[in-house]
Amino acid sequence: MPTASHETKKEYVRQTFASISHRYDFLNGLLSLLFDRCWRWHIVRLLADLPEGPVLDLCAGTLSLSREIARQNPNRHIYALDFCENMLRAGVQKLQDDPHSSRISPLCGDGEAIPTLGDIFCGCTVAFGMRNLINRQQCLAEIHRVLRPEGRLLILEFSRPTNRLFKPIYRCYLHHIMPCIAGVCAENREAYKYLAQSIALFYEPKELLAMMRAAGFTQVERRQLTLGIVSIYVGKK
Ligand SMILES: C[S@@+](CC[C@H](N)C(=O)[O-])C[C@H]1O[C@@H](n2cnc3c(N)ncnc32)[C@H](O)[C@@H]1O
Repeated sequence: MPTASHETKKEYVRQTFASISHRYDFLNGLLSLLFDRCWRWHIVRLLADLPEGPVLDLCAGTLSLSREIARQNPNRHIYALDFCENMLRAGVQKLQDDPHSSRISPLCGDGEAIPTLGDIFCGCTVAFGMRNLINRQQCLAEIHRVLRPEGRLLILEFSRPTNRLFKPIYRCYLHHIMPCIAGVCAENREAYKYLAQSIALFYEPKELLAMMRAAGFTQVERRQLTLGIVSIYVGKK
């Protein structure tokens, strides 16, 4: 049974994303200097050799990753799960002009209690969602449950660069420049302060890999992209 503070934290996350949903895509592109598209392209490429079957895109937000999966995989169906209705609604608007929209099913639900039977999906992706989850171990256990045997989990998440020269530049960007730009463009500086903090406080990569193992995943590994600003974590059921 989740504690009250657990539910309160979840509600805070949901409301934070609801408040920025109408500007999320624009700010994502702006704040990442459009690198976000390239990172999503990379993670989707890793799905190419999976056997036939549906993919679960967890914490799907405004469906950017779901659409990239559908674009690169012409025969797959994608179930896009997120607990923030406003984010999904912003994504559904984009589906109107998307030739692959018939293969994307948005679902409003909690990633810590995935509303499906087990052994369904051949792959599960989580892009920039893991650090926003409150009970991450529970979510990893749920992903393991709904994946078919041999199914693959792919997580794309911010990490902290280790390069000594680049580190302070990135930290300054994260804590000062990003909330400023976001404050002007999103009218919600607090939301982007939360996002910067969630990146700064997120686990070390080896901790996330250990949590994936603890949830039952094997062959877990991490690949760094763009000087370690983001990482892709892979695991197999
Ligand atoms: C930073 S956005 C990422 C959206 C998208 N994957 C992308 O690549 O842009 C994180 C998303 O995680 C969702 N989220 C956070 N906790 C969740 C939970 N427990 N269940 C489902 N979605 C959750 C938020 O609503 C938000 O839309």
